[in-house]
Amino acid sequence: MRVLQVASEAVPFAKTGGLADVAGALPAALATLGCETTLVIPAHRESLAKGLPIEPTGLEFEVPIGTRRLPARILRAHLPRAACPVFLVANDELFDRPTLYGGPEDYPDNSERFIFFCRAALELAGREAHAFDVIHCHDWQTGLIPAYQKLLYRAWPALAGARTVMTVHNMSYQGLFWHWDMLLTGIEWKHFNWQEMEFHDQLNLLKTGLVFADAITTVSPTYAREIQGWPGGCGLEGVLAARSDALEGIVNGIDTAAWDPSADPHIPRHYSADDFEEGKYAARVALAARLGHAAPDPRPLVAFVGRLAFQKGVDLLVELLARMGASGRARFIVLGTGEPGLEEGVRRAAAACPGTIDAVIGFDEGLAHLVQAAADITLVPSRFEPCGLTQLYAFRYGSIPVVRATGGLVDTVIDTTTETLADGTASGFTFEPIDPGALEHAVRRALDCHEDRERWRWLVRRVMRQDWSWDASARAYLRLYERIIAAPPARTP
Ligand code: ADP
Ligand code: GLC
Repeated sequence: MRVLQVASEAVPFAKTGGLADVAGALPAALATLGCETTLVIPAHRESLAKGLPIEPTGLEFEVPIGTRRLPARILRAHLPRAACPVFLVANDELFDRPTLYGGPEDYPDNSERFIFFCRAALELAGREAHAFDVIHCHDWQTGLIPAYQKLLYRAWPALAGARTVMTVHNMSYQGLFWHWDMLLTGIEWKHFNWQEMEFHDQLNLLKTGLVFADAITTVSPTYAREIQGWPGGCGLEGVLAARSDALEGIVNGIDTAAWDPSADPHIPRHYSADDFEEGKYAARVALAARLGHAAPDPRPLVAFVGRLAFQKGVDLLVELLARMGASGRARFIVLGTGEPGLEEGVRRAAAACPGTIDAVIGFDEGLAHLVQAAADITLVPSRFEPCGLTQLYAFRYGSIPVVRATGGLVDTVIDTTTETLADGTASGFTFEPIDPGALEHAVRRALDCHEDRERWRWLVRRVMRQDWSWDASARAYLRLYERIIAAPPARTP
């Protein structure tokens, strides 16, 4: 089976969030299972600046975008530790930029950038000697591909027989653009209607993918249910409910080589479930030094690592810090970057409790590893969470997650109760109401449990020994690919 994966970011080339982790690890896991997998991503400035082994292929072609024809130059690399080639689509006008999507405002030409990327990826695949059986698209940036494949590229022998999969990593980013951008796509106006590409007078790239793909997936079973209703569907719940037969939730795995406390280059002392206390103490010392503290704080360390976004419940976090910062029971660290108002809220909370709360505003991959290793408790108070990787990394590094019971957090974290302790399934602490009091209560339950050293040791060992590797999830994707290859293509809308 030949599978093409298309995404706008992938580790180790470029990353803003979990999409990059998945797009870098899933193709590698599929390749390990014997599935011939190729990944296509844009050649962002970030990808080219890292000194990774990336070579020119000599392949260059023009892509029609509205009335223009823009050059696509194809570069080639490999995913580390995997037999998976990576093609990077270069166009300096569009992708040689300081950040991936803009910020704080999106780049005004993001529609043009990703319409170009979708078409270039297909034109590249169409030039390959062997046809692809499946084209797997991730998020709105690749949403036009299923439509292009069915409408514009049917005559290309290498593409005609392919099936398309659209994976939603987050319904709240849909790629909504003004209707005149339809002209850039080269797709006939008749498809700009409420059943296909239009959403309240705007062009919607994610909706386009959901309508035209042969199969739809999202990154957890609970989120797959949530997005078929309000508010999870973010306005597209009708589209998703109408295609519920084609929709499946497959929980993400993690790259257990990149996130491995027994081999992590970002932490001072490697450890496993057997000697986690020594390993975590060494990480705590290193983190204190990194933050400029004289000595590590003996109190339990509660961490948040993630985008400072409304989705992540950062307003609840800020309120929690205000409530618990003075209580003396724990030390807190927040590592994140995002919405300016939330960054400011976190900064202020830290400034109010200097000996108790650290705020590191920025994106720092190595520090994220060190914080997970140092932490006892990791907070994920998300309003909604398609899957969430932070809690899975926390497990692996022996930090116990406190999460809101939503989306993939429901499917991965089991609340610690008398029953779940008795049957050995407990793995964290959950709360439901979107309310700082509920978050605080869950954190206090975790801190109470932390005081019972034997119980805590048991819990940490248990979560560290869970298997969240990609193997099972990659197999689920393979079964899906096999199913759609055997079935006729989904009806063209
Ligand atoms: P999302 O994709 O919604 O942001 P996930 O939990 O799926 O959430 O993935 C987040 C990923 O981004 C994790 O790998 C996490 O470690 C990383 N990350 C988020 N913020 C930062 C940051 N400020 N510095 C380093 N890594 C970060
Ligand atoms: C999105 C989601 C996150 C998920 C990630 C990878 O960014 O917000 O929950 O883990 O994609 O699928």
